[in-house]
Amino acid sequence: MAFPITRPRRLRRTETLRRMVRETRLSADDLIHPLFVCPGRDVAKPVESMPGVAQLSVDRAVAEAREIHAAGVPAVLLFGIPEHKDARGSEAWSDRGVVQRASAEIKEHLPELAVITDVCLCEYTDHGHCGVLSGDEVDNDATLELLAREALSHARAGADLVAPSDMMDGRVGAIRSALDENGYAQIPIMAYAAKFASAFYGPFREAAESAPQFGDRRSYQMDPANGDEAMREIALDLEEGADIVMVKPAMPYLDLIHRARLEFNCPLAAYNVSGEYAMVRAAGLNGWIDEERAVMEILTGIKRAGADLILTYFAKSVARRLNA
Ligand code: PBG
Repeated sequence: MAFPITRPRRLRRTETLRRMVRETRLSADDLIHPLFVCPGRDVAKPVESMPGVAQLSVDRAVAEAREIHAAGVPAVLLFGIPEHKDARGSEAWSDRGVVQRASAEIKEHLPELAVITDVCLCEYTDHGHCGVLSGDEVDNDATLELLAREALSHARAGADLVAPSDMMDGRVGAIRSALDENGYAQIPIMAYAAKFASAFYGPFREAAESAPQFGDRRSYQMDPANGDEAMREIALDLEEGADIVMVKPAMPYLDLIHRARLEFNCPLAAYNVSGEYAMVRAAGLNGWIDEERAVMEILTGIKRAGADLILTYFAKSVARRLNA
């Protein structure tokens, strides 16, 4: 029935009516808050390109995790900045590493908060690539064993889930076998399955001190133009045993979040990355946009596209508002 019988505006007239027909509802349960853990004690070193985000020593990370938990967010994602970097990134699998210590302490003080650890070598290697080098290429198969060691050491430290972000072929399978063979069959894997070589990781590389010292990541992260290939990457990670798959970044890839939602019947995460955070904060701090509304609109859009879980540096503040 067409106008004048049908008038969509009838259901938009009051907030109560709008509330009754709202299709997508963002909840604190959907959110995961990333943290950058650094060496030292009582350190909070602001990340210039991410206002409101800081590198935190283990003690301060635990305090921040307490606030995130109190806000109602169910999980944190930990990244580590090591004491020393080397060619193989060996601090990544040190049982005394910052991520391992932060995982153990958060689980001791906040057992209900899920700890997810990012499994990658780029923060730990002196060359800044996500795997070990052979000449100036990243050696896929030689990297797998190191990633498996790193994931295992996170599990030993008490991590609830591990999240490989390196984009080596076969890493989900390698990590799954290592966990299973060592008594951690119950630890799920959240795979950064469709991870694109993106300009939007710029601020993260300042936060995690992980910029590649030569070249770029385009030989292992995906070409932003490829959607069919993203679906193949997700299918492969699921075959290798991924429990949750991720599309990353989020805003320029909403179509792929939606496709993944339709094609795969599994929990789906989307990473609203550092550059997406930085843009919104910069415009907000300048008074150029209404930041609170923009953030809700972006996160609602990511959820409407089909994401079950959203990794975002806005998680704590948004959860506070949602639960206020
Ligand atoms: C590590 C990793 C990156 C991000 C998450 N894990 C950076 C990269 O691949 O260069 C990006 C997160 C963000 O930008 O917020 N490989």
